[in-house]
Parts: sequence; C-alpha cells; structure tokens
Amino acid sequence: MTSEQSPTVHKGLVGVYADTTAVSTIDEPTNTLIYRGYPAAQLAERYSIEHIAYLLWYGDLPTAAEFDAFTSRIRAAYRLDPAVADWLATTRPDTHPMDLLRTAVSILGATDSSTPQLDRDTTLAQATRLLAQMPAVVAAIQRHRHAQPPIPADPGLGIAENFFHMCFDDIPSEPMVRAFETSLILYAEHGFNASTFTARVVTSTLADLYSAITAAIGALKGPLHGGANEAVMYMLQQIDSPEAAADWVRRALERKERIMGFGHRVYKHGDSRVPAMEKALKTVVAERGATDLLARYHAVQDAVYQAKQLLPNLDFPAGPAYYLMGFDIPIFTPIFAMARVTGWVAHVLEQRADNALIRPLAVYTGPTSRPLP
Ligand code: ACO
Repeated sequence: MTSEQSPTVHKGLVGVYADTTAVSTIDEPTNTLIYRGYPAAQLAERYSIEHIAYLLWYGDLPTAAEFDAFTSRIRAAYRLDPAVADWLATTRPDTHPMDLLRTAVSILGATDSSTPQLDRDTTLAQATRLLAQMPAVVAAIQRHRHAQPPIPADPGLGIAENFFHMCFDDIPSEPMVRAFETSLILYAEHGFNASTFTARVVTSTLADLYSAITAAIGALKGPLHGGANEAVMYMLQQIDSPEAAADWVRRALERKERIMGFGHRVYKHGDSRVPAMEKALKTVVAERGATDLLARYHAVQDAVYQAKQLLPNLDFPAGPAYYLMGFDIPIFTPIFAMARVTGWVAHVLEQRADNALIRPLAVYTGPTSRPLP
C-alpha cells in the first residue's frame, strides 16, 4: 500500500462516533450531562442511586409502585454471596480493592447458573444482583483491610445508607449520606468512556453480563480513568499547605507528569459534574470541619489552571469527599465501580438490542516478507 492510500488512524479513537446511544449525552451549549433526557446534576439533588439505575435500565424514572418493586428485588439480593465472602477471607488484606472487586464479580458470574443466558429479563435480574452485591463486596473489602468481619446488609436501608452501615456499623448525618448519594449518581453514567466501551466490546461478542462487567472493572482501574480519584487524594496528602501547591504542581509538570483529577477527553470547557460534586464536598467539609483540606484543594485547582489552563474533572472533588467520609483511599475506585455498574448495564442492554461485533482495523507497521531463519 502506498502512503497516499494509507487510511487515517484515529489514535485513541479521538473524535470517533462508534455507535448511537439513547442512554446519556452532554448537551454542548449548556455543558450539561443528560441521563435519558434529565440533567444528571438535577437528578442528583432529588433521587437515589436506585432511581437512577431504574432510569438508565428501563428508560424512565420509576412510579412509586415500580420503585417499591425494584428496591424489594435489590434488597432481596443484599446479602454478601457466601462464595465471595469465603474467598475474600483467604486474600491478603493489602491486595488492591479493584483486583478484589474484579475477581468477586467474576466469582458471582461463575456461581450464577443463569450466567450464559443473554435475554433481557435474565440480564436485568443479573444486573439487579450486581447492583446489590457490589456495595456489599466493597464494604467487606474496606473491613477486610482492617481485619474486621463483614457487617450484614440491613434490608431496611437504601444502597447509600447501607454502604455506610456495612463499612462502619454507623450511618452519618443525612447531608453526608446525600453527598455520597450525589457522588454515586454523578458517577453512574458517562457515554462511551473507556470502561463502558470495554463493556460494549465484550458484549458485542455475545459474552454474558458478568464477563462485560468484570472487563469494565479492569478498564476503570487505570489512573487515566477511574483510578484518578485515588490518585487525587494521594496528591492532596503530599501537598502540606495551600502555599506549597504551586511549587508541587510546577515540579510535577516539569517531570511531564499528569495532574490527576484534571483534564478530560470530552469536556474542554470543564466537567459538567464538578459543580454538583464540589457542593457535596463542601457539605462534607462543613460536617467534618476540614477547612485545611478544602484550602489545599482550591490551591491545587488554581495552580493547575495557572500553569496549564486545565480544569478539574469529577474525580478531583470526589477524592477528598470520600476521604472525609472515612473510606480508605484504595476503595475510592471500587465505589466508582459500584455506581458506574448502572451505566455499564444500560449500555450492555443497548448493545445487545442492536448488536454488531466491535472489531476495528489497524494499519500494519511491522516488517513484511521476512525470510524464515
Ligand atoms: N495533567 C497534565 N497535563 C495534562 C493533563 C493533566 N491532567 N490532561 C491533559 N494534559 C495535557 C497533555 O499532557 C497534553 O499536553 P501536550 O499537548 O502539551 O502534550 C494535552 O493536555 C492533551 O492531552 P491528551 O492526553 O491528548 O488529552 P486527552 O483528552 O486524551 O486526556 C485525560 C484526557 C486522559 C483524562 C487527561 O486529561 C489526563 O490524563 N488526566 C489525568 C487523569 C484523570 O484525571 N483522569 C480522570 C478522567 S475523568 C473520570 O474518569 C471520571
């Protein structure tokens, strides 16, 4: 092939529309993230993560009767699967929680006799199980890290409150739970991001839901994607004072490092989810009296903007918010995963409804016609 005939390579698939979706979009003129027609930030003020799962999976917000039936199904699946509990007890407490969560979801698939079935109803039942089990797994991991046994879920509580209960045997104030629920809703869905696209690629081969979610968790782990919320907190811990922020940022940029929690492939004028999450962070700061952390947060934000005109993404306010809520830093990305499973499932269902195997091409740059030695 001559150079004139070389096809265009879209490195990183930048700017490529790989399919259509009715799950979510970003309204460019208003820079608003929309879930099935509703602004995500407005949904986060009023609804629970269960409402959002229903909206993303079924297309509409539930009626009161639909919500009751849905939450009953979720709560019936709350109890940590014994196969996962037994396996988790054999693992080293310092294993990264994303590795534990990924394997736990794989175990859930391996122990579910319905795993090979791909029909919509069975997939929704599996998805409901995952929505209930993933917080139980993440809470059990948080406790395992401190040599504490899992706390059974309370079927009288919703997912957000229950998560605190299972982690700490304690439920914080209503504003604190609301701030957490806000983070779950803002993390729930975001178009063809790397982990969602991974789930769609796996689904496009006609593999099962558990395989798609296991793969998506792997994609989310990296620091350029979900892993950034943990990295943000490690960065804020390294910066002793607001005055130290500019120097720290300058030196990191000189070393050609990425500043975690800043920049975004899709948003070039700021991540639309940041204002709502920053409001939630301020609620948490007020509850915990952690104004020093907020001062460092703002100093880093200013320094990164001054140095590189980069704006924060959702992970920047989410990291310190989770820290102040009392979660161990390595479970921040698993928390992201237990929220994003709602979006992943919506995309798995959408991919299956009108499937085409996802199989792009690559321009070959290796040697041709080598004689065998
Ligand atoms: N720190 C330093 N420089 C950055 C950053 C950053 N966080 N983000 C982008 N840049 C720079 C790049 O170095 C590059 O500069 P150059 O042109 O001088 O080489 C330029 O901006 C463009 O970078 P790309 O990687 O091409 O931009 P892309 O749109 O692909 O990047 C990404 C998006 C990967 C998220 C990037 O902004 C990044 O690495 N951010 C840090 C990790 C992060 O916060 N990830 C979370 C994403 S949001 C989420 O998962 C909820």
